Amino acid sequence: MSGHGPAIPMTARRSGPLKGTAHVPGDKSISHRSLILGALAVGETRISGLLEGQDVLDTAAAMQAFGAEVVDEGGGDWRVHGVGVGGFGEPDDVIDCGNSGTGVRLIMGAMATTAIAATFTGDASLRKRPMGRITDPLALFGTRAVGRAGGRLPMTVVGAGDAVGVRYVLPVASAQVKSAVLLAGLNARGDTVVVEPEATRDHTERMLTGFGAQVAVEETGEGRVITLTGQPELSPQKIAVPRDPSSAAFPVCAALLVEGSDVLVPNIGLNPTRAGLYFTLQEMGADLVFENEREEGGEPVADLRARFSPDMKGIEVPPERAPSMIDEYPILSVVTAFAEGPTLMQGVKELRVKESDRIDAMAQGLRACGVEVEETEDSFTVHGLGAGGVPGGATCAARLDHRIAMSFLCCGLASKSAVSVDDAGPIATSFPVFEPLMAELGAQLVRRNT
Ligand code: S3P
Repeated sequence: MSGHGPAIPMTARRSGPLKGTAHVPGDKSISHRSLILGALAVGETRISGLLEGQDVLDTAAAMQAFGAEVVDEGGGDWRVHGVGVGGFGEPDDVIDCGNSGTGVRLIMGAMATTAIAATFTGDASLRKRPMGRITDPLALFGTRAVGRAGGRLPMTVVGAGDAVGVRYVLPVASAQVKSAVLLAGLNARGDTVVVEPEATRDHTERMLTGFGAQVAVEETGEGRVITLTGQPELSPQKIAVPRDPSSAAFPVCAALLVEGSDVLVPNIGLNPTRAGLYFTLQEMGADLVFENEREEGGEPVADLRARFSPDMKGIEVPPERAPSMIDEYPILSVVTAFAEGPTLMQGVKELRVKESDRIDAMAQGLRACGVEVEETEDSFTVHGLGAGGVPGGATCAARLDHRIAMSFLCCGLASKSAVSVDDAGPIATSFPVFEPLMAELGAQLVRRNT
C-alpha cells in the first residue's frame, strides 16, 4: 500500500524506569519468506506468529495477486494455498509493495522465471531505491525489466520462460539480492549458484531446505557458495515465525539507556547472521544477558534481559560485522550517544540505500539533539556524551523510515529534553504495536496532535 495517510507526529519524554516483559512481533524477513515460499509450494502452508505489519501484508496481497490463496485466520495464524514452482499467474493490476524493499525484491525474483509480466510500485521511499541490483542478475536468466531512470519503480518485469540456472557473485552484501536470485533459480533448469563474499542473513537458504528444495552451502576462499537445484516440488510446511531481533532492539536499547530499567524480551531469533547488534552492545559493556538459549524451528532463540547500563564505552564496530546488524545501526547510533567516548561504525555504505539514507538521517537528527557526529560515505562516528548526557530537545525527520522514527523516540526516553519525530506512521510497517508495547513498559510517548 503506497503511503500511510496523514503524518503522525510523536514525542518521547524522559521516562522513569522501563520495567516488564515485551513481546515483540514476528520476524519481518522470515514472514515475507514464509508467504512467498508458501505461495510456491504445492498445497497448504500454515504460518503462526506472522508479523502483521504493513510490509508483510503487502506481500500477502501480492501473493494473492499472483494466484495463491492467502487467508488470515486471526491471532497471527495464516494459511497459504500455494500454486507450485512456475505456477504464478499474471496479476490483473499493479503490485504495490508499499514501503518494502524486501517485499518487492523477493517477489521480483520469485516471478522472474515464469512467462508472465508484472508491474511493481511502492511509496515515495521505495520509488527512490535502486532496483538494478536485482534486475541485473535477473537479466542473466533472460528476465527483462523496464523502470524509471536509474532503475527505479514503477517497473515492469517480464519473466523468462524456460530459463536455465545462472552463477552470480554478489557485488554487494545483500540478502535481498541473494534471495531474489535463488527464488528465480527455483523455476530454472539445472543449478543456480550464488556466491556471497560476505555472509548475509540466511533465512532463504534455511527455509528453501525446509520446503524440500536441494540447497548446498559451501564455505570457500571465494566466500559462501550456495547451490540450488532448479525445479523442485516444494512441499507445504508448518512455520512458527520467531520474534524479530530487529524489533527487539528498540525495547532492549531503551532499557539500557533509561535509568533503573529492567526489561525481558522473550523468544528472540538469534540467528548469527542477524545478531551482530547484541554482541556489539555486550562489547560496549551493556548489561544484556541471553537467557534460556535454545533452538526452535531450526533457528537459535533466546530471551533477552536488558538492564540500565550507565557505564557503556564507545568502541569500533568492524566492517565485517555490518551484514549481521545492518538494520540496527540507527538504534545503535542512539545507544552510542549515551556511551562514554566515540564509536566508529565502519563498512556501512549500504545504509545510504535503505528506506532512507540512514547515515544522513541519524547524523542530522543526533546533531539536532546536541550530539557530535562525523560521517564519510562508508562510515560514521558518534561522540558519546555518557549516560543521561544527551541534550535532546529536537524534532527529527523520520523520512518515511520506521527504524529512524523508533530510534529517535528511544533517544527521547533518556535525553534531558523531549525528542519528537515528525511522523511515526511508518512504524506500522514493521512494529505496529510499538507505541502500546513501549507505553506498557513505562515509556512516555505522546502523539502530538491528540
Ligand atoms: C532483508 C535484508 C536486508 C535488510 C532488510 C531485510 C531481508 O537488506 O536491510 O531489512 O529480509 O532479506 P539488504 O539485503 O539489502 O541488505
